[in-house]
Amino acid sequence: MSITVCTVSGKGGTGKSTVCSGLAMTAAAGGARVLIIDLDAGFRCLDTIFGIDDRVVFDLADALKEMDIKKALYTSKCYKNIFIIPAPSVKKAIDFNSLCSLIETAKDDYDYIFLDFPAGADFEAYSYFKDAVFLIVTGADAVSPKAAAVISGGLEPNVTARLIINRFDKDMIRAGFYRNIDDIIDTALTRLIGIVPADGELLLISQNHKIKAKGRSAKAFNRIVRRISGEDVFLPDFKKI
Ligand SMILES: Nc1ncnc2c1ncn2[C@@H]1O[C@H](COP(=O)(O)OP(=O)(O)O)[C@@H](O)[C@H]1O
Ligand SMILES: [Mg+2]
Repeated sequence: MSITVCTVSGKGGTGKSTVCSGLAMTAAAGGARVLIIDLDAGFRCLDTIFGIDDRVVFDLADALKEMDIKKALYTSKCYKNIFIIPAPSVKKAIDFNSLCSLIETAKDDYDYIFLDFPAGADFEAYSYFKDAVFLIVTGADAVSPKAAAVISGGLEPNVTARLIINRFDKDMIRAGFYRNIDDIIDTALTRLIGIVPADGELLLISQNHKIKAKGRSAKAFNRIVRRISGEDVFLPDFKKI
């Protein structure tokens, strides 16, 4: 049985797709079978990140039309155990009832199913995934933690929502946006599950289609994957993130 993980944010560009991809790559490097469904219709960032741009013919809309996941399932260029369903090429409403049924047919085949949402607070769409872990991705800037609070405040109370502080750079704290990590958590009003560093390697993820297994980011993603799976993993001193 798989764990469903949704990457969401109130503000655009906080790093949802990067975090989703990094978590998937780290879980896959540890041997997990991973399915990723790109819900950001029209943009299809994940095709580029996973190096499948030149192969994609069918997408989520086709899989939903035929209610067959295999119709639009592509294997990542660098990880044989990551499978991607590309987002519909044009923006139009996704039928979430059908999507849930489709996911149900796949649950036994994967350890993790990631749903990478577009930015915005689409609570109607989120409401279909009551058993999922919602990862609310925020920057450490002055604005995106406030947008994260809007998401966590709007999710149903029994849903598991956790905060990821992405592009973390201790200099942002030195610059005075926040006094410390607790300040960011207090603004986002969401329990922290992990911190991902600002890392040049992640800027290049769409070119390399993989991350170094022992790099700073992989270590951060690994801690988060283990916490999602229920392990108690300590938070390192933020100077070492
Ligand atoms: N931790 C990080 N370190 C460096 N660059 C990052 C990091 N996270 C995201 N980025 C970069 O920020 C940009 C936006 O990220 P993306 O994942 O597409 O955001 P979103 O999916 O929230 O719109 C991309 O160019 C990506 O490479
Ligand atoms: Mg995205």
